[in-house]
Amino acid sequence: MKVATISALIGSTAAFPGLLNLGGDGKLLDLSGLSDLSVLELNQQKTKNNTYPAADPKNCPFNHDHKPAAKWNPDFPYSHAKNGLPGNGKGGYQVPMPGDEDHKFIAPGKNDIRGPCPGMNMLANHGFIARDGITNFQESVDACQNVFNMNWDLATVITLIALVLGDGDVLSQKFSIGCDATSRTAAVELIAGSQPGLNGHGNFEVDASMSRDDYFLAEGDAFTLNVTLFAQMVETTGGQFTQSGISSLKHQRWHQSQQENPNFFFGPIGLISYAASAFLPELYGDGKSASTETVATFFGVHQQDDGSWIYGHNESIPEGWTSRKEPYGLVGVVENFLKMYLEKPVLFGGNTADGHFDGLDFGAIKDGKIDAAISVDDTLCLVYQLLLWPVPGLLNGVLDIGTDALELVTSTLGSTLTDLGCPAPVNAS
Ligand code: HEM
Ligand SMILES: *[C@@H]1O[C@H](CO)[C@@H](O)[C@H](O)[C@H]1NC(C)=O
Ligand SMILES: *[C@@H]1O[C@H](CO)[C@@H](O)[C@H](O)[C@H]1NC(C)=O
Ligand SMILES: *[C@@H]1O[C@H](CO)[C@@H](O)[C@H](O)[C@H]1NC(C)=O
Repeated sequence: MKVATISALIGSTAAFPGLLNLGGDGKLLDLSGLSDLSVLELNQQKTKNNTYPAADPKNCPFNHDHKPAAKWNPDFPYSHAKNGLPGNGKGGYQVPMPGDEDHKFIAPGKNDIRGPCPGMNMLANHGFIARDGITNFQESVDACQNVFNMNWDLATVITLIALVLGDGDVLSQKFSIGCDATSRTAAVELIAGSQPGLNGHGNFEVDASMSRDDYFLAEGDAFTLNVTLFAQMVETTGGQFTQSGISSLKHQRWHQSQQENPNFFFGPIGLISYAASAFLPELYGDGKSASTETVATFFGVHQQDDGSWIYGHNESIPEGWTSRKEPYGLVGVVENFLKMYLEKPVLFGGNTADGHFDGLDFGAIKDGKIDAAISVDDTLCLVYQLLLWPVPGLLNGVLDIGTDALELVTSTLGSTLTDLGCPAPVNAS
């Protein structure tokens, strides 16, 4: 991953204010919507200073006994997903399957890594990915299919996002589901930079999450579940997690962050975080809604007699839970995202130093907005561009895609997304 710094970019584009020339090949990323890049610059500086203990790699747990997830076992076949390849797409069975000891719940130990994603934390607690929280492409893609009957295309794209945006390593295909474990994820010793894991703020992890604080509002802890926010999730959705309820919640969280967080940034990757909220009804629930009880168990929280919630750090699969029958893939999640987003749209962009909010341009996002008439295919292209275009990320400046990442994406996905006629990748270097 090649990371261009914002200040270097600003310096090189004096002649074209708002347009960043990446790589000198004449291809420009249009950031003209962002009239003031100071928020990006300040955030970048702040992270470089690395003053938050929560984000310090030295405080990242280290389990010297890394055990990969158990190999696929024909006695407990789930949807037959193995080796990172597509399974049979058939769900509707109980998870874990009765008698499957490899996948029983075990609470994480003090040397195990957990992070901002309730889904990955749960998969690690059940051993569908390595229990120490250092996982890889194959484990992640198999687990999403076997446990949730997520379609291969969606499982692959979200896993690639973690690798390609710099949370993990595109050569080893490993990533940490939480804090910076570069010594264990990097294929070769890194000369500069690090692999921050899913905690890495502004890569995949973004502001205005449902259950996690914003990075700069919580001294770098944007990964631990906040029970006040969980209570808000239940209240705003009315305790039934439907698409419409979640749309209200995401809209509310966006405005809350925009007001409270001077460093608020909701870049193009916000789209992925937003779309993941559709997993509540679609993957945890029956496709229409998910109950508070189900969501609470998956999120590892428990209600006390006085109504308050406690976080037990024990994300798990509810007793007797069954996976959805039909696979849930890229087209499904994009359709859900559009429906939820367009019901109560929010802007893509960030707060500026003088307290204004600036919208940005990225693919079909213009001036921070997605047009209500956008097609599903054009939205899929946005996802594709997130993988293959330089993405204005928060902390690392603009995330630029190197050839290793490009090669991984194109060799893995083949024509899955190029068939749609999406604009070609820019600036592969
Ligand atoms: C395949 C690999 C996956 C990766 C790399 C991944 C990564 C992430 C990351 C980095 C976040 C934080 C986004 C933010 O800051 O808002 C997140 C959020 C989330 N993920 Fe995952 N995820 C994966 C799979 C799953 C699965 C299988 C599920 C459940 C079915 C899931 C459910 C969620 C939910 C519900 C959130 C939102 C949490 C919130 O807003 O508080 N994820 N994921
Ligand atoms: C980062 O550290 C430098 C040197 O200590 C300091 O001058 C600067 O103000 C810090 N920046 C931020 C945003 O904290
Ligand atoms: C949890 O979220 C609430 C509401 O945003 C906030 O006031 C509180 O400081 C957060 N608590 C922690 C421990 O981060
Ligand atoms: C998780 O922890 C809570 C509180 O400590 C406890 O009540 C609950 O039974 C635990 N759940 C599992 C699956 O271990």
